[in-house]
Amino acid sequence: MNNDFVTLNNGVTMPRIGYGVFRMTDAAACEEAVVQAIQSGYRLIDTAAAYENEEAVGRAIRRCGVPREELFITTKLWVTDTSYEGAKRGFARSLERLGLDHVDLYLIHQPYHDYYGAWRAMEELYAEGKVRAIGVDNFTQDRLADFLFWNKVKPAVNLLECNAFFQRENERTYLEREGIQMQAWSPLAAGQGKLFENETLCAIANAHSKSVAQVVLRWLVQRNIVPLVKSANPQRMKENLDIFDFALTDAEMQQIAALDTGHSCFGSRDTAEKVHAFLDAACSYQV
Ligand SMILES: NC(=O)c1ccc[n+]([C@@H]2O[C@H](COP(=O)([O-])OP(=O)(O)OC[C@H]3O[C@@H](n4cnc5c(N)ncnc54)[C@H](OP(=O)(O)O)[C@@H]3O)[C@@H](O)[C@H]2O)c1
Repeated sequence: MNNDFVTLNNGVTMPRIGYGVFRMTDAAACEEAVVQAIQSGYRLIDTAAAYENEEAVGRAIRRCGVPREELFITTKLWVTDTSYEGAKRGFARSLERLGLDHVDLYLIHQPYHDYYGAWRAMEELYAEGKVRAIGVDNFTQDRLADFLFWNKVKPAVNLLECNAFFQRENERTYLEREGIQMQAWSPLAAGQGKLFENETLCAIANAHSKSVAQVVLRWLVQRNIVPLVKSANPQRMKENLDIFDFALTDAEMQQIAALDTGHSCFGSRDTAEKVHAFLDAACSYQV
């Protein structure tokens, strides 16, 4: 397996691993990190209107020295704009901030508000060639099943939290069956749960002379999941890409499977109170 591409359900190819910029709100630092990431070899950059760094990402794209057509740029529609009119407006603003004439992947960031209306607008943007693929983010299986039932254009991607402690095999097999590419956010659990000190992961890493981060990222790509990983450190950026010269055995894959807790590392929004608290926070700022 090489650091090449997966093919989405509309024929568009997408890199097997991406670089994410969530929480990089210092514009200069974000711009510099994205330039370094691209120069280290990343070709997929994952941002969002809500990350408030699309302008910095756009500057990095112009500065990095790699032609635009070799890059795969994702951005996302925020909850407050998740409606037909909102998606048109939100997309135009994202494009302007990025300084691009199209993006490669446009995702509905959260499964709330009028995401059916937003999808109509996204289908139009797709037909107009302003986005090469459209998809969803954080859509659990029950919501996605309903969504697929009523829509003609199938999402190309569903981006979900997925890491060694929250493995989502059930979601992965469902998405594979539907021909929807799964991406993983916080693939290293953002360092939660003492991931880097986990005994099982350390033993497997030692056996391959690799790091725990490399083992977890490799485990994701061997499950046909595209990880979006963040590091502000140039050394670790390169380390996280260097996962295509070794393979985990079936036994090692099973040992990692046994680490699944079945729970999010960041807390699920599984009650009305949690959803309302999230929506209150989501509406408290404009993107
Ligand atoms: N759509 C969504 O709802 C959503 C939600 C969360 C995240 N995301 C996407 O997923 C991306 C990644 O998620 P994330 O940033 O939460 O977490 P992550 O990639 O799982 O972990 C990042 C953390 O791990 C550290 N790290 C990275 N590589 C390392 C290595 N080789 N060894 C040791 N430590 C390492 C980083 O520190 P250093 O920077 O110091 O290396 C950082 O603290 C985001 O940037 C974003 O694009 C999407």
